[in-house]
Amino acid sequence: MTLNKIEFKSFQKLILDAVGMSLDDSKLDLVQNRLYSRLLHYEIDSFSHYLKIVNQDPEEKIQMINHLTTNETSFFRESQHFDFLTSIVRQISVNPAAADSERQQPLRIWSAASSVGAEAYSIAMILDNFLNLKQWQIIGTDINTEVIKKAKKGLYCESWTNKIPAYYKKKYCLKGSGRFAGKFLIDQKLSTNMKFDINNLIVPDSCYGSFDIIFLRNVFIYFNTKTKQQVLNNILANLNIGGYLIISLTENLDGLDTGYLKKCQTSIYQKKGIGQE
Ligand SMILES: C[S@@+](CC[C@H](N)C(=O)[O-])C[C@H]1O[C@@H](n2cnc3c(N)ncnc32)[C@H](O)[C@@H]1O
Repeated sequence: MTLNKIEFKSFQKLILDAVGMSLDDSKLDLVQNRLYSRLLHYEIDSFSHYLKIVNQDPEEKIQMINHLTTNETSFFRESQHFDFLTSIVRQISVNPAAADSERQQPLRIWSAASSVGAEAYSIAMILDNFLNLKQWQIIGTDINTEVIKKAKKGLYCESWTNKIPAYYKKKYCLKGSGRFAGKFLIDQKLSTNMKFDINNLIVPDSCYGSFDIIFLRNVFIYFNTKTKQQVLNNILANLNIGGYLIISLTENLDGLDTGYLKKCQTSIYQKKGIGQE
């Protein structure tokens, strides 16, 4: 069963409209391979037939998105960002008023495009280590419904612990046994301050409130410039003045209107108020 160019164009448009992902023409084989299992699932023999199903059934459209998004992630990925976070959290632990002298609110962090939650739990380990449970909150969101289910469970293969610093591994990773042998579970204490939810970054959304730090890493690569701007605007609307936006070390904001964002260091930006330098 092969995907022809006309069918591929329909998938390109569907995924662009649904999640903002731009699949260039070189991705035909990738789409064909990833959606092949859906044809088997329906016992159908053409991608045209599958397109009809996707167009009629919103549930199948979600499945299609789940199959076409790339969810690669790891704990403490791009460790510089976690060093930066640690320095901020350390300051707050020493002087809680330094976080925000007026609000005295918990430090709120958004792991946007969180995939299976490794990024959000890495952040949580740092926050819990330095702060008490009243001092922080984390929201992790993703468009892919399957990865959000996995994130909520917090259960991972043991090989995923490789990049977790030994101290945090010992403190927050519970080694599985019996039917969970070869896996580890994130300490459920962390989950009490965390929420995972399905969210599409291309849709303006303010239901999560405002954040002090937003991690938006390794997702811009899938968007064209127009979508990047749309996503950046949506994200910035939820970032507090003085708050930080962290993108991947391999990404940039070139060519985008970044409003009041000021670059602090590679891939880390701070939102300034009007007239602030
Ligand atoms: C490569 S993973 C990055 C995970 C994590 N941020 C990291 O850096 O390790 C990209 C994630 O972006 C999600 N994604 C793609 N388009 C999205 C959209 N429009 N809204 C929300 N999430 C999206 C994918 O489902 C995927 O889980």
